[in-house]
Amino acid sequence: MNDWIHRFSGYEPSDERRREALCTVGNGYFATRGAWAGSSATDHHYPGTYLAGYYNRLIDDVDDHLVENESLVNLPDWLPLTVAINDGDWITPDTCEVLEHDQELDLLRGVLTRRFRLRDPLGREISGVERRFASMADPHLAGQTLAITVTGWAGHLRLGSAVNGAVRNCGVERYRKLSGRHLTEVSPTVDDDNLMVAAATSQSRHRVAVGIRTVAAHNGSPVAGWTTRTDSDSAYAELVVPVQAGDVVTAEKVAAIHGSRDVGISEPLLATQTALAHAPGFDQLREAHVLAWSQLWQRFSIELEEPFDGTMAAVRLNLFHLLQSASAHSGDTDAGVPARGLHGEAYRGHIFWDELFVFPLLTLRMPALTRSLLRYRYRRLPAARQAARRAGYPGAMFPWQSGSDGREESQRLHLNPLSGRWTEDATFRQRHVGLAIAYTMWQYVEMTGDLEFLGDRGAEVIIEVARFFAGLAEYDQGRDRYVIRGVVGPDEFHTGYPSRPAAGIDNNSYTNVLAVWLFGVAAKALQRLPAWRRAELTATLGLRSEELSHWDELTRRMYVPFHDGVISQFEGYEQLTELDWQHYRSTYGDIRRLDRILEAEGRDVTSYQVSKQADVLMLLYLLPRRELHDLMERLGYPFTATTVRATVEYYLARTCHGSSLSAVVHAWGLAMLDPDRALEFLEQALHSDAGDPSQTGTAAEGIHLGAMAGSIDLIQRCFTGLGGTNDVLRFGPRWPAKLGTLRMVLRYRGHRIVAKVSTSRVTLTVDPGPGPAIAVRCFGRTRLLRPGESRRWSSRGG
Ligand code: BGC
Repeated sequence: MNDWIHRFSGYEPSDERRREALCTVGNGYFATRGAWAGSSATDHHYPGTYLAGYYNRLIDDVDDHLVENESLVNLPDWLPLTVAINDGDWITPDTCEVLEHDQELDLLRGVLTRRFRLRDPLGREISGVERRFASMADPHLAGQTLAITVTGWAGHLRLGSAVNGAVRNCGVERYRKLSGRHLTEVSPTVDDDNLMVAAATSQSRHRVAVGIRTVAAHNGSPVAGWTTRTDSDSAYAELVVPVQAGDVVTAEKVAAIHGSRDVGISEPLLATQTALAHAPGFDQLREAHVLAWSQLWQRFSIELEEPFDGTMAAVRLNLFHLLQSASAHSGDTDAGVPARGLHGEAYRGHIFWDELFVFPLLTLRMPALTRSLLRYRYRRLPAARQAARRAGYPGAMFPWQSGSDGREESQRLHLNPLSGRWTEDATFRQRHVGLAIAYTMWQYVEMTGDLEFLGDRGAEVIIEVARFFAGLAEYDQGRDRYVIRGVVGPDEFHTGYPSRPAAGIDNNSYTNVLAVWLFGVAAKALQRLPAWRRAELTATLGLRSEELSHWDELTRRMYVPFHDGVISQFEGYEQLTELDWQHYRSTYGDIRRLDRILEAEGRDVTSYQVSKQADVLMLLYLLPRRELHDLMERLGYPFTATTVRATVEYYLARTCHGSSLSAVVHAWGLAMLDPDRALEFLEQALHSDAGDPSQTGTAAEGIHLGAMAGSIDLIQRCFTGLGGTNDVLRFGPRWPAKLGTLRMVLRYRGHRIVAKVSTSRVTLTVDPGPGPAIAVRCFGRTRLLRPGESRRWSSRGG
């Protein structure tokens, strides 16, 4: 199989929605699901177009509670490009006999092709090829073509092209009882044969305009004579072409899309009209788009020679969707990193902590992109400060789910589709999201050495989050330690104790230890600033020396629960009931959502030692072993290789991997302990959306961006030991021979570096050019590399 083509053969209505998510075309500014052009939302199709950062709020009454939700808005659909025979209905694979059907996503060029041969109920056949792309060269443009061959009949072929403004958000079944009509003032127009739909979001008042220009040809000769019309929401064009058997009718569409959050425009409708008027034809547009992708692929080149089957294909697919969700075009959008990409409506397009898993790939190739995505968080620091104040804490409390203005967007009620019951949802207590945000800021600075960013923004966020956690930590006299009560860890099954439902758990080890790490980093961040900036920031934030001493105290006296030589996930985890895993596996098969299964059985997941995903193990994921050891030692806790092994084994046996992030973290935790099992988790993470459809959960509602990026980061950092601290680039391969040899391109401190890694060797080549030498440490030896130089490290010395 060609690693650059992701193919779906045949027509599988039940898998179509997942295929749509995986066949999404996008450019970081907008994305459009890979739905059949002209399909409307049904059980098997869900066309959706989303602009990064375009959210809207709606209010519903659920069981006498007012429920307010902010969602990423599904915008007018530019895709409809369809045909009908004589006076018949529009041809679709659902209403015709499907003789052939094949979807092919060309990852190298960013073009989706659908080939089909259909027979209508009257026995007439057509074959067709439809192609589409969202331009990576001009983020406001998309291209689409359709070529239809008439097979064995004569008559009229009707060609339809439209912008459908009658759209709503209804892509996720669980949310369907709630309102989904976000667009108002929908205004379809026809302007010189171009079709336009302008609209506004009902609450956030963003205006958007989607326009198309379609031209047609019959056996290669242009045909005119479109009839156009509008109704209340949509604009349509139709062309009737008399055809003979063997004739080929083609249509070529260019779509343009603008929104009122764009920079450098007057207003969206005018910008869309202008864009359409100046847009080149499909071929030229495609050429620029392919060039943009080829440049991206050069930057993101990650090649494995002879890895195990399917690995490279998954690496390319995952990178492709990452770059469609976040690209240079995301820079000005003030959008963060939505957990499900721009590929569907799961989690309403919200932003969680998943960027933690995404940034390492971006920072080592497009550091400016990470920097602009981090600004999404910085801009919402005031909202996080307000949230902390409201909750009675100092500093900044970032929301678990974030959308437009940085308020908490997590729902308080959740529908369990297995039982049909709405249950209380207290996952918003995942205060650890703030730690993740501070971590990404620091990691970016360590990797890039961007002290300007640290001074202008990063240090402020880091200090404010540290203050919040210092405020959260209470002194417990009995223990003579500090404790953090009433939070939820990454394992969001445990939102409370059975006796204290939804009130959070106490002393989540991940939260406590990472907070300790942050107190140390906050002090370091201040030290890294030039004296003048440190003085400014200290004054602006009113930071007192007692606070710094208190942080220092916390790095010695924070409480971390242990049991039987294992770090406890939280206080009391080990006292919960053990689950009969075998029983649940054999009864239910797929037990990833044990919370729902148990609730439907009338039980409560909080009573059991069952973790949705890696929780304590996150510490091994984020902190190098040495650093974690030093943190624990300073706190006065034993932390040996035996503790690590016992902890990994303990949770491995109690985790159901209900989040795709879990596989990434487990692979990381196991890389040194059990490489074969680590590879199993790598495989699982690599294929979490595109693997066996029965195992891919909710991929139909959007990709799992964290797992997609995290799976490649396992190859990039985990197995190579790649890291950057104190201005030294480090490698320490624990490279599995099964993965072959790695060759990847990195960007580090302004240099382009080609890195080759195998089990016993690391070779780095720095492109010639200006810039200072870089320090690289590998296998215990540090060397300086100047531009134009190449160096090899071998585990056997030399
Ligand atoms: C996971 C979270 C994650 C979220 C969005 C949830 O299922 O438990 O850790 O942030 O999905 O991806």
